[in-house]
Amino acid sequence: MSGLFIAFEGADGCGKSTQLRFLAEYLEQNSVPVVRTREPGGSPIAEMIRDLLLDNSNAGMDAVTEALLYAAARAEHVRKVIRPALEQGKVVLCDRFILSSYAYQGYGRALGVELVRSINAPAVDDCLPDVTVFINVPPDKAFERMNALKQHDRLESEGLSFHKRVFDGFTELSRDSGMICIDAKGTKFETHEVIKQRLLPILKNAGVL
Ligand code: TYD
Repeated sequence: MSGLFIAFEGADGCGKSTQLRFLAEYLEQNSVPVVRTREPGGSPIAEMIRDLLLDNSNAGMDAVTEALLYAAARAEHVRKVIRPALEQGKVVLCDRFILSSYAYQGYGRALGVELVRSINAPAVDDCLPDVTVFINVPPDKAFERMNALKQHDRLESEGLSFHKRVFDGFTELSRDSGMICIDAKGTKFETHEVIKQRLLPILKNAGVL
């Protein structure tokens, strides 16, 4: 039995974590076994790598070091959490996955998608999302939401031009197949309905619902 792997992606402050929670609650109410997880992190060692990556005192981190650390965290996460859950037939809802590396390190840090892809190949080991939900909120709007929140981490502290490059990357990459692009113009509840409607056929087709 194999489960279903769904990743949520988007700019910092786009509301993807809330949407992931809404979907998880909907699935759990329908007795679907769900694993909620996040990147960077999701397993003990990966959470330690997350602390390194997001620590503001590591402001001078080299871009390649950063890309390798995200991939190292992902290698742990795939092997310890994601793949075992999928093998048990569960639905894995992951807050960010490899698309974030393409957008942030590939575009934001200008390493290029090909280098980031090769760094990540041994980390993901072909364990890729069945579906990626991209919450399409432009960075200036996402920034407004984010600025209302508490302290910013190392990545969030990057300027608007970095986040614009990241967003252009996401937009470019979201044209790929297998990607569900959601224009989050309405309330968070309206966005949840849109996501649900787009995912229902996929969930039914996979025998999850
Ligand atoms: P996230 O957990 O979404 O931040 P928060 O919980 O504060 O909303 O992600 C942390 C940061 O890591 C975010 O700015 C995006 C960045 N990131 C990358 O640069 N590359 C990656 O591969 C991943 C997964 C995240």
